[in-house]
Order: sequence, then structure tokens, then C-alpha cells
Amino acid sequence: MSEAPTPSIPRPSGPSAKVLAVTSGKGGVGKTFVSANLAAALAKRGHRVLVLDADLGLANLDVVLNLHPKITLHDVFTGRAQLDQAIIAAPGGFSVLLAGSGMVEYSRLTPEVRNEFLQVLHSIMPRYDVVILDTGAGISDVVLFAVSLASEVLLVATPEPTSLTDAYAAVKVLAMQQKRTQIRMIVNQTARAGDGRAITGQLQQVIDRFVVPGAGRPIRLLHLGDIPADPAVRDGVMRRQLLLVNTPGSPAALAIGQLANKLDEVVLRRSTV
Ligand SMILES: Nc1ncnc2c1ncn2[C@@H]1O[C@H](COP(=O)(O)OP(=O)(O)O)[C@@H](O)[C@H]1O
Ligand SMILES: [Mg+2]
Repeated sequence: MSEAPTPSIPRPSGPSAKVLAVTSGKGGVGKTFVSANLAAALAKRGHRVLVLDADLGLANLDVVLNLHPKITLHDVFTGRAQLDQAIIAAPGGFSVLLAGSGMVEYSRLTPEVRNEFLQVLHSIMPRYDVVILDTGAGISDVVLFAVSLASEVLLVATPEPTSLTDAYAAVKVLAMQQKRTQIRMIVNQTARAGDGRAITGQLQQVIDRFVVPGAGRPIRLLHLGDIPADPAVRDGVMRRQLLLVNTPGSPAALAIGQLANKLDEVVLRRSTV
């Protein structure tokens, strides 16, 4: 589970995408919503963005985007199709690699899954500025493997106590097993402005008290931003339309825009010198 990635697959040399993992402790907190809309917001700011549906067992990016391609990551993994055939354009100006329903069999981390995943990621990295991994929830080995491939972890949590205890568990594993020293927090479905920052602060206090840092340095939670609970999000999902395209003026869409601005400033600018 904590082995190093297979060394036989070379990392791309030259310019390559920043890989962001969008993950969470608990399921259903808004990872896919954040991944797709953040991708649209970053694309609008001039970045070449690809979202990879890395929630292999419970993939639902296709549903959210209303895209049902014949060829998916599943066909690439099984050798039935070339990678390029599976990369498709999403509404919102970014590319996606959808998992496809057949990926359920890949929800266990076998050496084959590990290899295929790395190969796909390393082939796409030189072609994009940002690759967003829409991962599964929790601390299973497939989720942890996907997260281990990213240079930045965006942890989505909601203010619900269950989401926060699960977020704590995820931070603990990422600190101890992956020796992460920073995680960026997105607090989704907040009721009031400022709630998210307070929640990140509380979580940090618990971590400081109970988590033994794996890298010898304490893990820092960096508050990336909040997204308010907004009925426009559910309406968009029901109509299978991307929030940022359809209701760009809604409170949640505006919040995603601010997250994109911040990411652009603190994560992406630094790497594109
Ligand atoms: N900011 C929000 N306001 C209202 N509803 C939201 C918000 N974010 C997510 N949701 C609801 O939560 C559901 C689950 O989100 P999703 O992105 O599929 O979660 P995950 O990928 O973490 O399982 C969405 O279909 C949407 O209805
Ligand atoms: Mg999802």
C-alpha cells in the first residue's frame, strides 16, 4: 500500500501539468462538483485543464457532465482503445477522461491498475497545465494511490460533524503514510461566510494535538476557500448542466471562481515560469 510507484514508467521530462487531487474523507461532499466546476473556472483563466475520473469504483463525472462516450478509461486499461480516443471535450472548455462503468473491477489496487494509471497520467501530463484527479472518498488503497500522484491535495469537507471526523481521518493518513506537510481545505455547503475558515482552524487544532507528523514537520491545513450551500448546485445536477456554464452568477459559482483565482495565484503561477 505504501510502496513507491513502479519505477519502470518514466516521469515526463520537460513542461508538465500540475496534478491536483480533489479528495475527501466522507463521500457525497461535492468532490465531483468541485472538480468539474474548478476545471471550467481554470480553463476560463487560460489554463489547459483535464479532469480524470479517478473514483474508479463509483465514477459519476459522466453523469454530472451529461457525457456518455463510447470509449472510456476502461477501454484504455484493457487495451481496447488508445488513450487519445478516450479524451473528450467537456462543456466548460476542458478535457475529461471518464472512467466508465466497467471500472468497478479496478476499484482494487492491483499492480496492473497501478501501472495503467501511471502510464495514463504520464502520457497526459506534458499536454496540459493542470490535471485534476477527481478521486474517491476515504482512505482505501486506490484513493490513497491516486492522491499520492498529486503534488497538491484539495480536501473537500462539509460542516457536518461526520464529514469533519472523516476529514480528520484522511488528513491523519496523508500525514503519516504520504508524509504530506500541507493540505488545502475546501469547505463546501457552508451556511455563513467565514464558517469554512473557522472549521479549518478547528480541524488544525485537533491535528496539532493528536497527529504525529510522518515527515517530522507538523501538517498544515491551508484554507483555500468556502463554497456556500446553494440550491443552484442541485438544480444544475438535476438538469445535468455545469453550474459555471449555466448559472455563473450563482453564489456557489462565484465562490468557485474565487477558489480558481487563489489556486492560480498560489499554486499555478509559481510553476509556469
Ligand atoms: N455547494 C453545494 N450546495 C448545494 N448542494 C451541493 C453543493 N455541493 C454539492 N452539492 C450536492 O451534493 C451532491 C453530491 O456531490 P458530488 O460532487 O457528487 O459529491 P462527491 O463527488 O464528493 O461524491 C451533488 O449532487 C449536489 O446535489
Ligand atoms: Mg464524485
